[in-house]
Parts: sequence; structure tokens; C-alpha cells
Amino acid sequence: MLPADLDPSRIPRHIACVMDGNGRWAKQQGLSRTEGHKAGERALFDVLEGADEIGIDWFTVYAFSTENWRRPKDEVRFLINFNEQILLERRDELNERNVRILFSGRRDWRVPKRLIRRMDESLELTQDNTGLTFTIAFNYGGRAELVDAVRCIVESGTPAEKVTEKVIARHLYNPEMPDPDLMIRTSGEYRISNFLLWELAYSELVFSEVLWPDFRREHLYAAIKEYQDRDRRFGGVAGE
Ligand code: FPP
Repeated sequence: MLPADLDPSRIPRHIACVMDGNGRWAKQQGLSRTEGHKAGERALFDVLEGADEIGIDWFTVYAFSTENWRRPKDEVRFLINFNEQILLERRDELNERNVRILFSGRRDWRVPKRLIRRMDESLELTQDNTGLTFTIAFNYGGRAELVDAVRCIVESGTPAEKVTEKVIARHLYNPEMPDPDLMIRTSGEYRISNFLLWELAYSELVFSEVLWPDFRREHLYAAIKEYQDRDRRFGGVAGE
């Protein structure tokens, strides 16, 4: 099942993805922005299935950022309903594929109770699954995640000298999540945009020109190939 040009011994354990370009894709097709998001769902599930097939353990997507609330009210409403609808329509099939669904992000007053309920149901339904872990970052911001971690640490009364990198990592939204090996952003945008700021410290970043609705597992495999062709040193020296 593995594409011939990929090295099976160096498949990334965790891939994080910014699904960017839905709006521009829609505009190119003469469609509304919301049609672009709908087309993005097809891309997401093709890529997710492709990731699962080659044995990726963790796959994380940026579904809605803490900054996305600034979009026009109608688009925000659409994105919230769309996320809820995707959970409802897809969770059984994900569960059958042994996928574990997780969420990352702030559960503040802006997130409708109904969506929180769907998230909790999806978490519970898939919590014992042992296949790929699919993390949906919703109302997520990397800075907010760090603020929330610091708040927890301060509230627990931890003395300053006991605050280490490990302590901070333990207070992130999903402490068991390994750092991404690879972060992919589509649509020719070269930014991190507040995604997984702490976790991406040593990730390889691959930027694709393809707009998200056109992205498919072949593009994912090409990004993994680019990752494999790089030399990860984690601040050390090659070959050490
Ligand atoms: C960015 O495109 C994309 C989004 C803000 C949301 C994408 C969401 C999905 C595909 C659904 C995910 C849902 C679940 C439950 C995982 P953009 O609007 O920023 O595009 P543009 O930069 O071209 O305007």
C-alpha cells in the first residue's frame, strides 16, 4: 500500500495540517466561500484515509482558529454547523476504521453547547480505538493554549523554579500528543498562523501550492517524500 518512493522506516508519526485555500478555490470556481469549505471535506477524508493506510499514528487538522471568529457572521455560523454536521455524519465511519477522535482548543462561551455535546459524544464513542488518532483543533490558538497552560500551572501553586519544559508540555490541551514531525500548509501561504506554537518547535514544515479542496492523498505522500528527503537534526549535527 505504501507508495514506492517512500521509506517505510521513516514514516512520520504525527502530521499536522492547515487546510488553507477553501475560499480562494471557491472564488476560482465562481462559488460561495461555504461551497469551498464543503469541497474541503472531501479533501480531508481522502487525506485522512490515505494517512491511515500508510500507518500514520496521529493526524491533526486546524478546523477553526481563535481568530476565525472575526470572519463574517454567516461564515462563522456556517463553519460551526459544518463542523457539527461532519462529526455527526462521519464519526461512525471513523469509529469503524478504529480511529480515535480528539479535540484541541478552548471550550469557551463562544462554542455552542450543542457542538460541545457532539464533541463529547465523538470522544466517548472512539476513546478505546487503537488506530489513528485524529485531532480536530477547534477554537484553537497556539498562544491561547500556552496562556491556558500557564494559568493551570500558576493555579496549582507550582513554584517558579519548578516550571520546566516538561511541566508546560504536561499542561497543554492533549499532553499525550507527540509533537508533529511534519506540518503541511496548503494554498501557498507560508505561515504558522498560531497553530501548535509549542509543539511545532522542531517539526519539518512543508508548504504546498495546492488549494485545500484539490489536495488528495497523493499530495500528502509527496509532502512525506519531501520530509524524508530532509535532514532532521533537532539542533544537533547530522549523523550524530
Ligand atoms: C481555510 O480556508 C479553512 C478553514 C477555515 C476551515 C476548513 C474546515 C474544514 C475543511 C472542515 C473541518 C471539519 C472537521 C470536523 C475536521 P480559507 O477560508 O481560509 O481559505 P482562503 O484563505 O482561500 O480564504
